[in-house]
This record gives sequence, C-alpha cells and structure tokens, in this order.
Amino acid sequence: MALIEVRNLTKVFPLGESIFGGGAKGKVRAVDDVSLDIAQGETLGLVGESGSGKSTLGRLVLNLIKPSSGSVRFNGQELVSAGHSEMRRLRREMQIVFQDPFGSLDPRLRVEDIVSEPLVIHEHMSRDAQRTRVAELLRAVGLDDSVLRRFPHEFSGGQRQRIGIARALALRPKFIVADEPVSALDVSVGAQIVNLLAQLQRDFGLTYLFISHSMPVVRYLATRIAVMYRGRIVEIGSTEQITERPQHAYTRSLLEATPEIAV
Ligand SMILES: Nc1ncnc2c1ncn2[C@@H]1O[C@H](COP(=O)(O)OP(=O)(O)OP(=O)(O)O)[C@@H](O)[C@H]1O
Ligand SMILES: [Mg+2]
Repeated sequence: MALIEVRNLTKVFPLGESIFGGGAKGKVRAVDDVSLDIAQGETLGLVGESGSGKSTLGRLVLNLIKPSSGSVRFNGQELVSAGHSEMRRLRREMQIVFQDPFGSLDPRLRVEDIVSEPLVIHEHMSRDAQRTRVAELLRAVGLDDSVLRRFPHEFSGGQRQRIGIARALALRPKFIVADEPVSALDVSVGAQIVNLLAQLQRDFGLTYLFISHSMPVVRYLATRIAVMYRGRIVEIGSTEQITERPQHAYTRSLLEATPEIAV
C-alpha cells in the first residue's frame, strides 16, 4: 500500500461573481480527475506551468481544502471524510513547506517560539524537553543555538527557509508537501536547501510531494515525476523516463524551457 493514494480528485472553483449580479461567471477545474500514489520514502516531483493546479493538488492531498469529488488516503485512511479529531491526529504526520518562508513565519515571534509552537499545541512536553527538541531540530537543518532568540527579519531567505523546515519537522511527520520551497531563493542558496531536504529525507525516512516549475530542481530530487497541465496529470513516471524519454509534447516543452543548473 502506498503512503498516499489519490483517486479521481477534482476541485472546481467558481470564477468570481459578476458585479452586475449575474451570479457566478463560470468555473475553473483547478484539479481535474487526478489519481496517483506516493510510496513511503519516495519523492514525487510535481511540475507544470503557473496555474496548472499544483498548489491546489498539494493542499487537497493534505486535506487543507475539500475536493469537489474524489478520495485521498493517507496510510490507508480516508482524509476527505475524516472528522475533526481524527484530522487533528493526522495533521501531525503531514506538513507543508511554503515558497515564501517570510510570509509563513510570524514576524513577531522569536525562532525558538516559531519552531516550538507545534510542540506547544500538540505535545505535552516540559519546557526543558521542548528546548532540547528545538535545539535538535535547528541542528538538523544546519542552524545553531545562537539563532534561538532572534526574529525572522534578521535572517536571509535561505536561513528563513531552514527555520520553516525545522518547524515543519517538529512533530516528526511522515509526509511533507514542499510547495516551490526554493523558487524565491537564489540558485546557489536554493541548491543548498534542496540538498538539505534530500539529507533530511535520508535521516528521517520522509516522503515528499515536491512542487516546482523547475525541471532541473525536480529532476535532482525526485524519484518519480508527475507533469500537470490544466488540472490534469498528463504524464507520470520515473525521473529517468520523464526526463530522458518524455512521451507528451508538453513535458518536452518543459524540459526545453529550463536550462541545467548545478545542484
Ligand atoms: N481559492 C481559489 N479560488 C478560486 N480559484 C482558485 C483558488 N485557488 C486556485 N484557483 C485557481 O485554480 C487554478 C490553479 O491554481 P494553483 O494555484 O493550484 O496553480 P499552480 O500550479 O500552483 O500555479 P503557480 O505555479 O503559479 O503556483 C488557477 O486557475 C487559479 O486561479
Ligand atoms: Mg502554486
């Protein structure tokens, strides 16, 4: 059984109301009948142009938004119909890392409180045990204790992303959706974060859904790649298959659009 099983997942959004009171103007099928599996310990890369539905699919898989139809199973358990307390338990095992670490870190909190917040909410831990855990997490992402009392604005983008990753790891999740985690960073800094994610996967046995519009980044990290176009998965296969023998014209255009980078 795969860790994540997505079946016939569809999300339809209304396309804004008419100012003349004519009701909804139409609908967009942001995710359209998507089925895929993600095996324990693998990285599924999800690529596609802007607006193709990648983030919507990522949020559906985490049950952060409800689908119009279809099913998502995590470890065999259906999420779409899961109740509040069930989801609260499952939330700990699934986390998200965002593109913009600044937007996702509370600017008023110190690093110590940002990283320990999930522990405060979900775990009954002594203050000492919390401190120890936060220090461990920061070490795991390549930061030391000197950052504890500082605020997000005191850091560079790459360091902020490390803080966001430490926070995402706090509850020892099994599965992480990384939604364009390096797109806002310089290439060399992005490469360091990609390497960090690969290292953490080895250390903690993580499973990733890694969303990116950059084929070279996805190619480096992913076990398999899914190509999304207008809400649909038009091609899915091993990284080698997709990058060396793409079947779909759209996949070929994505490969041509992106120059090689050194990771
Ligand atoms: N909350 C929403 N309400 C209405 N439409 C939405 C909403 N979220 C997404 N959409 C629409 O769904 C489609 C897919 O958007 P989505 O953000 O999933 O694409 P994406 O592939 O992540 O794009 P990008 O690469 O720019 O991040 C787009 O047409 C978008 O406008
Ligand atoms: Mg997106």
